[in-house]
Amino acid sequence: MVRAMPTDTPASADRVPWVVRAARSTDAEAWHALQRGIYAEGTAFVGDGAASAASLAARLRGLDPREGHVSLAVARGEPIGWVELHRGGARRLAHLAVVTVAVAPRWRGRGVGTALMEAARRWATSRRLRKLQLHVRAGNTGAIALYRRLGYEVEGVLRDQVAVAPLGGGHAYEDEWIMALQLTAERP
Ligand SMILES: CC(C)(COP(=O)(O)OP(=O)(O)OC[C@H]1O[C@@H](n2cnc3c(N)ncnc32)[C@H](O)[C@@H]1OP(=O)(O)O)[C@@H](O)C(=O)NCCC(=O)NCCS
Repeated sequence: MVRAMPTDTPASADRVPWVVRAARSTDAEAWHALQRGIYAEGTAFVGDGAASAASLAARLRGLDPREGHVSLAVARGEPIGWVELHRGGARRLAHLAVVTVAVAPRWRGRGVGTALMEAARRWATSRRLRKLQLHVRAGNTGAIALYRRLGYEVEGVLRDQVAVAPLGGGHAYEDEWIMALQLTAERP
């Protein structure tokens, strides 16, 4: 578990302690609300919207380590960010997981994203995975900076992968990058 209690900035949120812990099925409603906020920003994810609270609860109830893992950052009992790892199930891909991370807007820039990504790496190492992979929109410079800082490297570029305004706002497309962190040096 990662703990942090920033003390050097004036906003009230900065004085609130937060922790990173494994998600539980009872977190589903709050996780859903957090996801909706990120989707509403429109700049990070490529899906059409947040998963329903019911489907998130079902996923968390039945989550098998062979399928993946979800950790939340929590302040005052409320999720303020999450990281999830998906494993495909195929034996030829069993050595890797695909990562998604997000932090609520007012909590950004305080190390929460870093702590979540570190929790993901620790979980992957404990499961003896060899590689963490993710997709990121080329314009998401903040997320790319975070990933590079943690050692992720670009593995490939998907040209014009994402429609910037899918609801009739023109024909602009954005590249998506595949980035990955090799864990082979860290295997226990
Ligand atoms: C990307 C995201 C998870 C980062 O979370 P965070 O809690 O703000 O990250 P941290 O505070 O741990 O930042 C760690 C480092 O990441 C980089 N970084 C994070 N946000 C950045 C930004 N907006 N611009 C530049 N660098 C940034 C910096 O290197 C930073 O280190 P520094 O503070 O010493 O400069 C967060 O901005 C977010 O949720 N964005 C919306 C969702 C999203 O884009 N998810 C990723 C989809 S692929």
